[in-house]
Amino acid sequence: MAPKVLISDKLSDAAVQIFRDRGIDVTFEPALGKDKDALLARIGEFDGLAIRSATKVTEKLLEAAPNLKVIGRAGIGTDNVDKDAASKKGVIVMNTPYGNMITTAEHAIAMMFAVARQIPEANASTHEGKWEKSRFMGVELSGKTLGVIGAGNIGGIVCDRARGLKMKVVAYDPFLSEERAIKLGIEKVELDDLLARADFITLHVPFTDQTKNILSRDNIAKTKTGVRIVNCARGGLVDEDALADALKSGHVAGAAFDVFAVEPATESPLFNLPNVVVTPHLGAATTEAQENVALQVAEQMSDYLLTGA
Ligand code: MLT
Repeated sequence: MAPKVLISDKLSDAAVQIFRDRGIDVTFEPALGKDKDALLARIGEFDGLAIRSATKVTEKLLEAAPNLKVIGRAGIGTDNVDKDAASKKGVIVMNTPYGNMITTAEHAIAMMFAVARQIPEANASTHEGKWEKSRFMGVELSGKTLGVIGAGNIGGIVCDRARGLKMKVVAYDPFLSEERAIKLGIEKVELDDLLARADFITLHVPFTDQTKNILSRDNIAKTKTGVRIVNCARGGLVDEDALADALKSGHVAGAAFDVFAVEPATESPLFNLPNVVVTPHLGAATTEAQENVALQVAEQMSDYLLTGA
């Protein structure tokens, strides 16, 4: 009998096609990811579950899934999956770490420009018919120091793009080798050094016990006056209350956040502060990235279910 896969989040049609072409019995019900009870009632039928970020795979859901062998996350972060519970049940959790990295890096660069030139506020004001030329004085990126926290797949692309913009790039990443730093044309530094030197800081690390509040109140206090902070990685890496205080005091000149400690974020201490640019976790939201991750997750899951590889 053909293995059965449920897609419970919005995924490109390309994924459905690949599953079908590979002989998988695929069910595409993107609304289920947001309907815990309905998902619980259906999950028992399936050998595979393909998700993005809306579906929360809890221990309870896994207990109701005796046939489940693989969970495929079309994207990078697997923080919506209880991985300990999955591994206890022998369920493989796979992600697609490469499909959306360029898109996410580009969003971080876009957010850096947006906060440097106050583009969202200038846009809103111009639409209102005001012509506030003198209100929106920005800063150049060229010649500035960018501090990159995490120079892995996405952070590495950000470093490359920032070098193209003629920024000086310093990176804090315990896993960054000197060889790779040289190849990227960046300087590997300790966190305190980065905090003291960066005009812009961008985060590109996963959310773990070690990275939680890596920009804590104490660390924010160590940054250069006038720093601008970009977070397109994960909520919870920056203490949002402390950042809001630093923005209000003028120590931090601006912030651009795509991710929040609680998502969906309907409120945040950062909302409605001047020169804070916010987007609703759009880091991976391009047609190219969504196509890539959908194709990759469908191929990987099909390989696993059909051949165990
Ligand atoms: C990811 O982890 O792939 C990104 O944050 C995108 C997403 O969650 O949709």
